[in-house]
Amino acid sequence: MMNSGMVTAAYIIAAVLFILSLAGLSKQETARRGNQAGIAGMAIAVLATIIGDGVSNYGILLVMVGIGGAIGAYLARRVEMTDMPELVAILHSFVGLAAVLVGFASYLTPDSHHVGAERTIHDVEIYLGILIGALTFTGSVVAFGKLSGKLGSKPLILPGRHKLNLGIGVACVVLLFLFIGQAPDAALDQNSTGMGTFILVLMTLLAFAFGVHMVMAIGGADMPVVISMLNSYSGWAAAATGFMLSNDLLIVVGALVGSSGAILSYIMCKAMNRKFFSVIMGGWGDAKPSNVTSDGSDEPQGEAVPISADEVAMLCKEADSVVIVPGYGMAVAHAQHPVSELTTQLKKAGINVRFAIHPVAGRMPGHMNVLLAEANVPYDLVFEMDEINDELSDTDVVIVIGANDIVNPSALDNPNSPIAGMPVLEVWKAKTVIVSKRSMATGYAGVENPLFFKENTRMLFGDAKESVNGILAGL
Ligand code: TAP
Repeated sequence: MMNSGMVTAAYIIAAVLFILSLAGLSKQETARRGNQAGIAGMAIAVLATIIGDGVSNYGILLVMVGIGGAIGAYLARRVEMTDMPELVAILHSFVGLAAVLVGFASYLTPDSHHVGAERTIHDVEIYLGILIGALTFTGSVVAFGKLSGKLGSKPLILPGRHKLNLGIGVACVVLLFLFIGQAPDAALDQNSTGMGTFILVLMTLLAFAFGVHMVMAIGGADMPVVISMLNSYSGWAAAATGFMLSNDLLIVVGALVGSSGAILSYIMCKAMNRKFFSVIMGGWGDAKPSNVTSDGSDEPQGEAVPISADEVAMLCKEADSVVIVPGYGMAVAHAQHPVSELTTQLKKAGINVRFAIHPVAGRMPGHMNVLLAEANVPYDLVFEMDEINDELSDTDVVIVIGANDIVNPSALDNPNSPIAGMPVLEVWKAKTVIVSKRSMATGYAGVENPLFFKENTRMLFGDAKESVNGILAGL
């Protein structure tokens, strides 16, 4: 058994490790170390909690940790990289549900420590923890449903939806005052928790409804922001739980998750040229049908010129500089290993080869970086959009592998496009652009891409892995 001083010391070490973990994860070179710091921090935190004096029933604890751990390990092993966002969404829902359950347990446990003003503060903590947890729970379940295709991605626009949200918000504030106003030292007397419990249940139901409504109103294209926003909420729910349980580590970790999720939401909104507030208000991000062009007409935009893998190999051999733009299709095709091999071959031939990464390429933040790292692509060849966009005009060949929306010129030159204003990789400025994809189909946003019809664009049709292997064979 650890005494409380030792537990506190362990928590401080864990908190420092979590901060080091976040710092490490911000750069590819240090990401592995960042992960290791996070794992070590979590192991210390869990161990200190288990052998601290707060746990009395080890039997139940071991069974529950066993069941939860087995489910987690099974899901993590099985999940495809492309399904990561929905796994993350459902995991957020567990954090939300845990906050709700801990909140109720905390309220219903007889408590003689908190009296007078302290009791009021504790009640507010419980109320806010349950509120944030409940809307995180249902919001994340709906986000999971939308991302996994179990629910339609169309935004649900109820008449008077802003008034509805406002009504729920006002009701929750009124209920908070009723909650703290009813029996001040209720917890000392278990019989008097009835009214408080009733208010909490009412607020929980309202927050459940709010979570469903909030995420239902957000369309498919805004879902990435919603996921990181729910990530942030789950952090605040954990922090509120930390206050309820007087657990400093949970407060620190919750605040880290809450604020990093909020920062990530902001970065993604910027990358997609969306205003955070309008994402939350919903009603946008509905994917257009694939036959509608970016200017709203059904007209075909010209003719796309196909190219063979052998011809691409020839073009590469003659080039001084090649930039590869990976997108979601590279993940689907598992093409990162042949792409890495292609990089090696081009480098051997003395060609300046680099990668250009759009902040929302793929289906989750850092998706492409993870795949390239997995395939051992050297980090110094990988550039962010802002670092490389200006250099694309001096590039001989750009090879776009399974990307679409992130290289769509209509984002810049068509104000009516659903993705108007989203910063994109300006690949069309290069001498030649090769686009590897299977068909002329649209990408995630459902918008036609005029890039495919540009004079200097050639379409390399087929599965990205096979196409890249074809180029390799040609080289
Ligand atoms: P997309 O615009 O979705 O385009 C991917 C393209 O890959 C598709 O047009 C598809 O064309 C092609 N493709 C699919 N499977 C392929 C395969 N096996 N081989 C070759 N090509 C294949 O992807 P993107 O350019 O990476 O843009 C990302 C989009 O997702 C953005 O709209 C972004 O807002 C959104 N989003 C991003 C995130 C984050 S955080 N990254 C999360 C959710 C959504 P074919 O069908 O013709 O092959």
